[in-house]
Amino acid sequence: MPLKTTILISHPNLDNSIFNNYLADIHKKNELFCVHSLDKNRINGYFDIEKETTILRQSKAIVWQFPIYWYNSPASLRDWQDQVLSPIVYSADNFVKNLPVMVVFTAGAAEEHYSHEGLNRYTAEEMLRPFEMTANAAGMIWKKPLGFYGCSGTPDEKTLARMASVYEKRLMELT
Ligand SMILES: Cc1cc2nc3c(=O)[nH]c(=O)nc-3n(C[C@H](O)[C@H](O)[C@H](O)COP(=O)(O)O)c2cc1C
Repeated sequence: MPLKTTILISHPNLDNSIFNNYLADIHKKNELFCVHSLDKNRINGYFDIEKETTILRQSKAIVWQFPIYWYNSPASLRDWQDQVLSPIVYSADNFVKNLPVMVVFTAGAAEEHYSHEGLNRYTAEEMLRPFEMTANAAGMIWKKPLGFYGCSGTPDEKTLARMASVYEKRLMELT
């Protein structure tokens, strides 16, 4: 079976999400991609480690996709890192070594707020440091994150089409 780019989506309410749901749908039927909801696969707080590990083993690149919640990812991605990634990284067979990983995030705030002069006082790159440090510690290849800002309310078709085109391009470039 050919390896896929796996999009791990961390969103506690994906079915009611506008932006991440829209992005997730783009590659759902593309056999080069595996779109995988972390929240829907975390039962009572726990992942099926064997199932998650198998998905990872079938991946040639990973996307950590999520809405920014309190300047972080939702909890399921942190749980995935603790429960799924940790045992792999600390095993004798760290097969995620050299696996490209890219964060795709949606943020409610406008891009200018993610700057030293802006309301949030830090850049998105700075906000994402724990993810970058985790990727580095795991031996993964950290790719420049892709952020979509001002993700609130109901977007028009043009905005969604623009998002889709950037998203598709960056995901195709990942491997
Ligand atoms: C609990 C919660 C915390 C949030 N925290 C932030 C935040 O820290 N920064 C930000 O820009 N947006 C924040 N937002 C806005 C979300 O990022 C935004 O609603 C989401 O990206 C929209 O994507 P979706 O339609 O897929 O849910 C927050 C939203 C919620 C519900």
